[in-house]
Amino acid sequence: MLGGLLEHVKYIPSNFDDPAGYKALAELLEKFDEAAGQPLNRAYYLSTAPEFFPVIIEQLKAAGLHRHPKVDVRVIIEKPFGHDLASARSLQRVVSGVFRERQVFRIDHYLGKETVQNVMAFRFANMMFEPIWNRNFIDHIQITGAEDLGIGTRAGYYDQAGALRDLVQNHMLQLVALTCMEPPASFEANKVRDEKVKVLTAITPPDPADTVPAQYTAGTVGGEDVAGYLEEEGVPERSRTETYAALKLEVQNWRWAGVPIYLRTGKRLARKVTEIAVQLKPVPHLAFQSQGSVGVQPNQLVLTVQPNEGVSLSLGAKIPGSRMRIRPVNMEFLYGSAFMSQSPEAYERLIMDAMRGDATLFTRNDEVDAQWSIIDPILEAWHSADGPLPNYESGTAGPANADALIGPGRDWRKL
Ligand code: BG6
Repeated sequence: MLGGLLEHVKYIPSNFDDPAGYKALAELLEKFDEAAGQPLNRAYYLSTAPEFFPVIIEQLKAAGLHRHPKVDVRVIIEKPFGHDLASARSLQRVVSGVFRERQVFRIDHYLGKETVQNVMAFRFANMMFEPIWNRNFIDHIQITGAEDLGIGTRAGYYDQAGALRDLVQNHMLQLVALTCMEPPASFEANKVRDEKVKVLTAITPPDPADTVPAQYTAGTVGGEDVAGYLEEEGVPERSRTETYAALKLEVQNWRWAGVPIYLRTGKRLARKVTEIAVQLKPVPHLAFQSQGSVGVQPNQLVLTVQPNEGVSLSLGAKIPGSRMRIRPVNMEFLYGSAFMSQSPEAYERLIMDAMRGDATLFTRNDEVDAQWSIIDPILEAWHSADGPLPNYESGTAGPANADALIGPGRDWRKL
């Protein structure tokens, strides 16, 4: 299979703004068509530094490669789609001047993860969750995107981006949208994306007091001593870039009004874990109080995106014995043991879908716009703040003021 593919791989060295490169590309595509005996669909995959996206798109148009009378022409655009709302809109003006929206496939690789798609399967293929999936039963939702790795060799990119742009604007907000969306009438691309965009546009940007940026300092991760962010190679001496972000959001609609949604993400945290935890309200009355059932906790449903992909539900259960004592136990489903098969890489799935023309797992322009509309005011508030940036020791669960954001009365899940 790979051998067959490699035979057809050709390389054209060219600068992105050089029309000669696109002429050579047009000739190559024609040769492919001739060899196949029919015109083939085109998919241009823009996996370059983002400043070249408009350049390449304009050049594709100038070379007449953006459309074809007989076959489908598509463009796959890597993230980031803009670095703020204004730049995303200006990129979109270029994109929509050349391509129709149905030709455009904006990548958010989280949507290609099996466990992220399972959020929809889980919610919409089971009867038991929908009746409780609302403000009447849910106390809060917390979404964690923790990483133990640092920024590695990506200082050039990361120092300009920071945690908010790198993970919250795209992956985390997509997780919020999937968790909170209404059931779509069908799994057709636009029906799913219509529902997601309704959630995103129902989120107003949080008050800066409901946000926490922070930066990692030196510490120990997995038994190894690691440097702080400011000591990483290529990071400017006085950088104020956040490597951690926590926020409290609310989806202001009938289903979710009043339910806080807490997001946290960061580099160099205690371990790698991505999960969505839905905490239900406590029972209204506990009949067993006098029996010493102090361990009773509200039910928590955890959708683990990675690692140990699965779903777990905590339940109160009777501790064996003559007294009515209760403690939480977990009911668990694990992908690994339930399906005994390896999921495809997120990118395998996404590139295949783009080639087939299925845009369900790609972000539509109005979603990107709504995502930046939430993030922009936070970025502005953080950039205009001048006090010291909170920090956290590498290998820990993050800064202390993130605990104040969720508490009192609520806690982050243990990392
Ligand atoms: C990328 C970010 O989009 O997602 C990286 O640029 C981050 O900084 C990565 O490490 C996380 O992806 P995953 O699939 O490892 O959770």
